[in-house]
Amino acid sequence: MGHLEKVESYYNADAARFDNKIEESGWLGNQVLRKALQDGPTSIGRMLDLGAGTGNTISVVRETVEPEEIVAVDISQGMLDKLREKYPNDPRITIARKAVGEYLTDSSDRFDFMAAMALFHHLPDQMEAVAGMASRLEKGGQAMFTYDPVIQGHDIQKDAVTEIEEVEAIYRVSPGEMEEEVRANGLAVKRHELYVARPKGAPYVGGFIVAEK
Ligand SMILES: C[S@@+](CC[C@H](N)C(=O)[O-])C[C@H]1O[C@@H](n2cnc3c(N)ncnc32)[C@H](O)[C@@H]1O
Repeated sequence: MGHLEKVESYYNADAARFDNKIEESGWLGNQVLRKALQDGPTSIGRMLDLGAGTGNTISVVRETVEPEEIVAVDISQGMLDKLREKYPNDPRITIARKAVGEYLTDSSDRFDFMAAMALFHHLPDQMEAVAGMASRLEKGGQAMFTYDPVIQGHDIQKDAVTEIEEVEAIYRVSPGEMEEEVRANGLAVKRHELYVARPKGAPYVGGFIVAEK
């Protein structure tokens, strides 16, 4: 089984308990997003949610601003079924069951706002995703995403790749390299923070970027 199939089958199996797991783990990514949205756009035409999963990011964004249209992209049908359960008959949400790389390559859609929360650590080529996002973002639009930073001296996060049986591997990028790549693709970095992603258990650091075109 290839990497993408492993990710897909892992999340298909995990979909029913995913929201509970996020809650129990105390993952702080949604709080970081919520805070950034306070200075975020006051209106959104088209939003793209990459690795949309069960729709948590859409729910957080909607606390602050109601996008006119949302495209939710994810490889896992199980996760997307849960998203649809949360928003049944919502004509503003279009679901695309696709790999993010394929979506960004094949589609020519453009967006005013993009989110990719807890996705990048699954992508072997995160720089390609950054470039794809940048090219689909409208002028003045914002992209908010988390990634797994390489942290010198950290037990686990010191490595750019950690092999993990369930999903094959977790991929990391150094904060400097990530910021450079965002800028190299014509985006301004409005916010870049490292945060304690999970207060429970072993300390785990997340990276969060708000970029603007
Ligand atoms: C940790 S979950 C995060 C879900 C959601 N963004 C959230 O914050 O609750 C990661 C999601 O990314 C999806 N995913 C991982 N790699 C992907 C890829 N290459 N293409 C599309 N979806 C992917 C998984 O299926 C899963 O739903």
